[in-house]
Amino acid sequence: MKAELLSVLRDADDYVSGQDLCEKFGVSRTAVWKGINQLKEAGYEIEAVPNKGYKLLSVPDTLSEEELKSIRKTAWVGQEIFYYPVIDSTNTRAKQLAEEDYPTGTLVVAGQQDAGRGRRGRSFESPQGAGIFMTLMLKPELSPVNAPMLTLVAALAVCAAIVKTTGRPAGIKWPNDIVMNGKKVCGILTEMSAQMDYVNHIVIGIGINVHNESFPEEIAPVATSLYMETGEHFNRAALIEEVWEQFEHYYAIFMETEDLSGLVKEYDAHLVNRNQIVKVLDPKEPFEGKAMGITPRGELIVDTWESRRLVSAGEVS
Ligand code: BTN
Repeated sequence: MKAELLSVLRDADDYVSGQDLCEKFGVSRTAVWKGINQLKEAGYEIEAVPNKGYKLLSVPDTLSEEELKSIRKTAWVGQEIFYYPVIDSTNTRAKQLAEEDYPTGTLVVAGQQDAGRGRRGRSFESPQGAGIFMTLMLKPELSPVNAPMLTLVAALAVCAAIVKTTGRPAGIKWPNDIVMNGKKVCGILTEMSAQMDYVNHIVIGIGINVHNESFPEEIAPVATSLYMETGEHFNRAALIEEVWEQFEHYYAIFMETEDLSGLVKEYDAHLVNRNQIVKVLDPKEPFEGKAMGITPRGELIVDTWESRRLVSAGEVS
């Protein structure tokens, strides 16, 4: 009942009477009172006024299944939510859940990761309570060749959510790092299990640095957090909800054509490398050129002095 109780209090503009809560949940006054006390113990500030009822005054920045479910407004993302205070990696857990027949849209969120994974075999710093570490599992009707574009869809969603939440500019470094003032604030790791012509599942793992006050020496020059950029502490559950609302919006546009043709303009508008000279770290043959934007398939268009090249994988700096 805790998540539902929280939902009702969250949605109410004014006090909700104890009687209304009893009737709504078909439970006794004592049960409602107990639920309220559990929420208070979890850090929710709830005012109780005789003859008026209960009012939610503030929510803590603790993540929990109740908090995530009570704030949920998405249509299909997060219908199943798993929250872990500590886990190895939310991507690994999401893959297991896919194998265990959980439905598309299942969301895994963690307070901390012991073995957070980044792209190209790197690790991802995931200290307790500092960030958002989450993975969405999808079982889409999508050709496997189109699946990598989903990572750019996720980048658009995170970028839009950060801009809306913080009111500050954020951009995308191709293909899917989110940056603020030139430093990385979010990374995305998309993994797929597929056959030649069929996607079994895709997991989209997102790590956002939210409250971090500093970073280890080796990444400090290139990493930042929402707190370091704004001096403000943002509520993680609210930002998670915003990310997935944005994702549902962009995903629907993507699925109309199974490519990014409906999103190129918006993606390019956020692309920080646009019109910049970039170094493409192609393992065979690194090269330099001017980044012009993306194609409808998500490739980066790079004009070298001799030709126009399309970069479909790899990294640019
Ligand atoms: C990168 O920038 O290299 C990608 C980082 C992705 C990190 C996220 S945090 C949640 C999910 N679980 C993981 O183990 N990795 C992703």
